[in-house]
Amino acid sequence: MAVFPQLRLRRLRRTEALRALVRENRVDISDLIYPMFVVEGKDIRQGITSMPGILRYSPDQLQAEVEEVFRLKIPAVLLFGIPEHKDETGSSVYHPEGVVQKAIQAIKNTVPELLVATDVCLCEYTSHGHCGVVSNGAIDNDRTLPLLAKMALSHVEAGADIVAPSDMMDGRVKAIRETLDEKGYQHIPILSYAAKYASAFYGPFREAAESAPQFGDRRSYQMDPPNVREALREVEQDIAEGADIIMIKPALAYLDVIREVRNTFNCPLAVYNVSGEYAMVKAACQQGWLDERQLVLETLTAIKRAGADIILTYHAKDVARWLLTV
Ligand code: PBG
Repeated sequence: MAVFPQLRLRRLRRTEALRALVRENRVDISDLIYPMFVVEGKDIRQGITSMPGILRYSPDQLQAEVEEVFRLKIPAVLLFGIPEHKDETGSSVYHPEGVVQKAIQAIKNTVPELLVATDVCLCEYTSHGHCGVVSNGAIDNDRTLPLLAKMALSHVEAGADIVAPSDMMDGRVKAIRETLDEKGYQHIPILSYAAKYASAFYGPFREAAESAPQFGDRRSYQMDPPNVREALREVEQDIAEGADIIMIKPALAYLDVIREVRNTFNCPLAVYNVSGEYAMVKAACQQGWLDERQLVLETLTAIKRAGADIILTYHAKDVARWLLTV
């Protein structure tokens, strides 16, 4: 075995061409999914204070934005809906004229090739802001399942290509798969938020989606941050129920979980670089304290290195611009 001075590891770092030749991991635009917020109404484009650069659009305002996403070669968007009216059971989730359903149609009419994934969860639609139906002050798992299945079905009927349940109820993947199959949508994949932790990093999202829980917290359904073996059980369960792609969320504080899941399962793996991670980067870069381009590319590459195949990120458009111009 060669050792110094015969061996010099710096030899392969001397020029960018050499470094590129031996680079082990890369972020590609085709790995990215761009999350978008759609709000009920007309002529609305609203900023989100804690997420500079991200807007909420009414369905009629989506055209230019999705054309740009498509032009930047980002393969997919993930939609979150913010309805006008909320109620106890989130009954507007499967309305054919609901905000997400309309947004899907608007996108498909503009750029039919752009993949449209939809977040399937009640929290933006319920008056209490929880991800499931509330019975006697507790989140009722089994009463939530049919609602999630109906919601997923109505997204698919409106033209969604992928459904992404994010509620963390037990059994939702199976319930959604059965409903889609019954209605002839065997070809529609489920991207399940399999290991979703109860995280402080969702703060800005809850402002964006108006989905903060009005009482208690999400710890009875989202995962406890210290646990990693439990994440493997969640992933195993979702794959067994029929998930096609599994997701881990958030990203940066959970790179070890990504690696464990990658080493254990063969299913395509998505990772969500969430709102709080985005907000921290933006805040520091606005102060001029960090270099945004370098920081974001380093961060996303680390997510790939940990084992992700797909990254959901609010930085997607910037990343695509940077990668397209090099
Ligand atoms: C809805 C949902 C949340 C996120 C995605 N889907 C918020 C939550 O669970 O409180 C977070 C996304 C982000 O922070 O970017 N259940």
